[in-house]
Amino acid sequence: MKMPLVAKASACVFGFFLFLKLGLPLFTSPLPYSVLAMYMILVLISTLLYVSIFEDDYSNFYLPIVKFLRGDEGDNAVRKMSRIAVFVMIPLFMGFRTYKSVQPNFEPPFPQRVIHPAPPGSAAGFVNPYGGDEANHEKYVQEGRKVYYENCVFCHGDKLDGKGFFANALNVKPANFADPTTISMLQESFVFWRVKTGGIGLPEEATPWDSAMPRWELILSEEERWKAVMFLYDYTGWKPRTWELDAE
Ligand code: HEC
Repeated sequence: MKMPLVAKASACVFGFFLFLKLGLPLFTSPLPYSVLAMYMILVLISTLLYVSIFEDDYSNFYLPIVKFLRGDEGDNAVRKMSRIAVFVMIPLFMGFRTYKSVQPNFEPPFPQRVIHPAPPGSAAGFVNPYGGDEANHEKYVQEGRKVYYENCVFCHGDKLDGKGFFANALNVKPANFADPTTISMLQESFVFWRVKTGGIGLPEEATPWDSAMPRWELILSEEERWKAVMFLYDYTGWKPRTWELDAE
């Protein structure tokens, strides 16, 4: 039996669909839905073009479709069932999909983010060169205060509470150092690492992390950065966390 033209054309379109949907992802990343839809529309148009150009009798192609839609076939159970499928199931399915897509989504938009990600191994080695010098401690803190109010105050606020001028425009909000869950929970080396590499230096698990924290290693000297960190602790009265060092 000769395969009806309509069946050939549908097989061609469907074959393309399978290739794009299942075959292509084997070689490259899968196509987004909108691109797939675009390709399929093109494939459909070109198939119709092909049929209309190369078939002398175009009615060969569309008569079976018209017959199917009109239900001309008489008492053929298979055709009846497929008509039911086309006219009932497909609208139901499309309705269900539309319903799903307009349903409000109560999932939080961001996946959970790691607030204090593990720093790269090198960060643990940072030791404050000014830490042991008790005699000059106050002097270093004052120098750090200057660094802070010239650089950090705009985001982290003049009371170190994360309420600087820019804070409302930022998401993630600048860290609130007065809060007991920030620098008081962290080792000095960690805080120094965060100041050094800023939002850019954060590892994968801390994303999506749109932290605006600048990468201070490009702007401030190492000395200025350590002193700023010392000022953070001095002003807030927190002590850097040290138990990891004690355990050694
Ligand atoms: C452009 C705004 C901006 C400026 C200026 C800025 N920061 Fe930040 N900072 C941020 C943001 C945003 C975060 C991320 C908040 C978070 O991690 O939840 C952050 C985080 C931090 C953290 C990490 C705290 C934690 O709990 O992990 C430290 C430490 C820090 N900043 C210190 C500084 C210091 C010191 C300066 C000045 C030298 C400074 N920041 C200047 C925006 C800024």
